[in-house]
Amino acid sequence: MNIKKVIYLAVLLLVLTPITTSIISASGFSSQKEIKDNNVLDKNVSIAHRGASGYAPEHTFFSYDKSHEEFNADYIELDLQMTKDGNLIAMHDEDVERTTGHKGKVEDYTTEELKKMDAGSWFNKKYPQYAKKKYKGAKIPTLEEILNRYGDEANYYIETKSPDVYPGMEEKLLHSLKKYNLLNEQNLSEGQVVIQSFSQESLLKVANMNNQIPLVQLVDKYKLSTFTGKDLKFIASYAKSIAPEYSDLDSATVQKLHQYNLKVHPYTVNTEKDMKKMLSIGVDGIFSNYIDKYIKLKNTNDTL
Ligand code: G3P
Ligand code: CA
Repeated sequence: MNIKKVIYLAVLLLVLTPITTSIISASGFSSQKEIKDNNVLDKNVSIAHRGASGYAPEHTFFSYDKSHEEFNADYIELDLQMTKDGNLIAMHDEDVERTTGHKGKVEDYTTEELKKMDAGSWFNKKYPQYAKKKYKGAKIPTLEEILNRYGDEANYYIETKSPDVYPGMEEKLLHSLKKYNLLNEQNLSEGQVVIQSFSQESLLKVANMNNQIPLVQLVDKYKLSTFTGKDLKFIASYAKSIAPEYSDLDSATVQKLHQYNLKVHPYTVNTEKDMKKMLSIGVDGIFSNYIDKYIKLKNTNDTL
């Protein structure tokens, strides 16, 4: 190649590089990076409660895929229970009956036994308007299967359910998060993993093991109003957010919680009317079974 050709190619490269970059940016290919440069928790977050559980069987890959891939919710919400053989699995109830039809508790079944259960048919019966043949036979996922499936493409809002029933669940949770490389400095600063619990003891245990993980104190219905300033100050010493039942909130309460430097993430807001109310009183995100509705409302609000 002669010198003229080399100069010509170098100039061409200089001219085309910024154009190519802007095309990639405009087409959205760079959006993942833009999102990852910020902490997710700094915006108004959409938390897909048990996945897109209004439309597909809760805590199955059907509901998680829908919230993550179709709705692009900020977080997949997970409830954890522990099996007889010590694996963490995603299930809301301690008892398997509601979502599988079998009798007994999660802690009395091995992972292999739980894997044989059908966690989807109950949904088809209860919600015929959203029923799908493919939901029949849906499997109960383990935590590690979930982390393996979505990796660092998703954000996880994980609840230690019944930690008093499952001693050691916090250690197991952190072990799995570490194994899937979700506890490094960057993931944590981006808010990729959040741990929530109604149990203060469980949250303090997590804080003691790793004080960089954002924690959320869940609050039972009617309990928020019983908290003193001292209680809130203490919660703010270990938690980034507080998650009350939504009907316990009004504008003044949200403002008060903000004064304690707590973000406010009410659960579980399922109607558009209540979602609008939550937006109007200044919450920092919500849990919903119909998270697509909230995402749409937020987008409309943002463009007004
Ligand atoms: O974790 C927030 C919300 O999910 C708490 O209620 O009973 O649905 O886990 P629950
Ligand atoms: Ca939960």
